[in-house]
Amino acid sequence: MAQQRIVLRNCGVIDPMQISTYLDRDGFKALKKALAGVTQEQIIDEIKLSGLRGRGGAGFPCGLKWELAGKAQVDEKYVICNADEGEIGTFKDRYILERDPFTLIEAMAIAGYAIGAKRGYIYLRAEYHCLLDLLKNAIGQAKEGGFLDQFDIDIREGAGAYICGEESALMDSIEGKRGEVRYRPPFPPSRGLWGKPTIINNVETLMNIPQIIFNGGHWFSQLGTEQSKGTKVFSVSGDVKKPGVYELVLGSRLRELVEGLALAEKVKMVQVGGATGRIIPYEMIDMPLAFESILGAGAIIVFNETRDIIDIVYRVMEFLAEECCGKCTPCREGTEVMVEILERFSRGGGLETDISLLEEVASAMMLSSLCGLGQAAPIPVVNSLQYFRSVYENRIRQN
Ligand SMILES: Cc1cc2nc3c(=O)[nH]c(=O)nc-3n(C[C@H](O)[C@H](O)[C@H](O)COP(=O)(O)O)c2cc1C
Repeated sequence: MAQQRIVLRNCGVIDPMQISTYLDRDGFKALKKALAGVTQEQIIDEIKLSGLRGRGGAGFPCGLKWELAGKAQVDEKYVICNADEGEIGTFKDRYILERDPFTLIEAMAIAGYAIGAKRGYIYLRAEYHCLLDLLKNAIGQAKEGGFLDQFDIDIREGAGAYICGEESALMDSIEGKRGEVRYRPPFPPSRGLWGKPTIINNVETLMNIPQIIFNGGHWFSQLGTEQSKGTKVFSVSGDVKKPGVYELVLGSRLRELVEGLALAEKVKMVQVGGATGRIIPYEMIDMPLAFESILGAGAIIVFNETRDIIDIVYRVMEFLAEECCGKCTPCREGTEVMVEILERFSRGGGLETDISLLEEVASAMMLSSLCGLGQAAPIPVVNSLQYFRSVYENRIRQN
């Protein structure tokens, strides 16, 4: 199974500390093309034509987001790159940032021109402090080269909270507040950072932009499936012989990635998409990796036959309960109740009423939580009950 490198095309090829090596690979040509006679609307049309959807988890159409912010008739607008990468099992953005910071900078400058913003922020995960100097160096060299004359980029470091990857909490964090989810609408393209129109995109989403502008939206739209265009970068970990970062055309089979590239054996289940991602049994491993079937942020965690589904789900829920911002009741209380029940099962017990209670709490959380954390937190639990229900039932019988 061959990888196709659009996002990772420069990774391992250029020197991330030397802009000249990026320029040798057509670096900043897409920005030059954009600034030389292409209108802001034409850029946005090209992104819309490409079919590019957000790679941070939700899959929102990138061009539509840019169009909404572009249309806002105000002087001050912002571009934010979400490099928080707090999702369990995700390390693709770090891989990209440490190998090719220049494509990201070029993409942010194109985004700034397209929507009419003069300033951008990279919101960097606290644990990625080691990348700060590398990013500052890249921004400095881009400035010296005259590529950031009309657009300034600053870096804001996170403080170690998973919720700050959620776009509205992230904006609160940049504004110097405690990172908590905002009520929506309004959405960021109309009212975002400091109340101004803002686009927020994941690192990987932005990495596609220069190639789309350079080669055209039509070129990009020919790759992938009906609703999932281009490639996706996956972070593969767990019970595999070759953990790592892989880029595949969207629509490729999960089996090709897990067994073909990462060389997993005796797979029992796979979690796709991070902490709140779906857990599927081995029998479903031929599922295509696409927004219309299964995707999320691209974290693939593989579990072999020695793993216990309840332990996995319990640990994930503990993490989510700890990281919940506490603002809305369904998520704050729901995650705690689930931890309590799952702990009982993990100790080898479980009450007769526990399974139905888990299902009831799950549906309340999904329907009424304020943000994606609470809405998606029950997914692994629901999947585990769907595919491994007998494990729970056997524990109850052991009482
Ligand atoms: C709890 C939570 C954590 C999130 N963490 C991240 C993250 O670390 N990185 C990211 O790009 N998006 C994250 N998101 C998604 C963002 O809210 C947002 O959808 C994304 O940055 C938009 O960019 P995209 O359209 O390019 O995907 C998170 C969402 C939730 C609900």
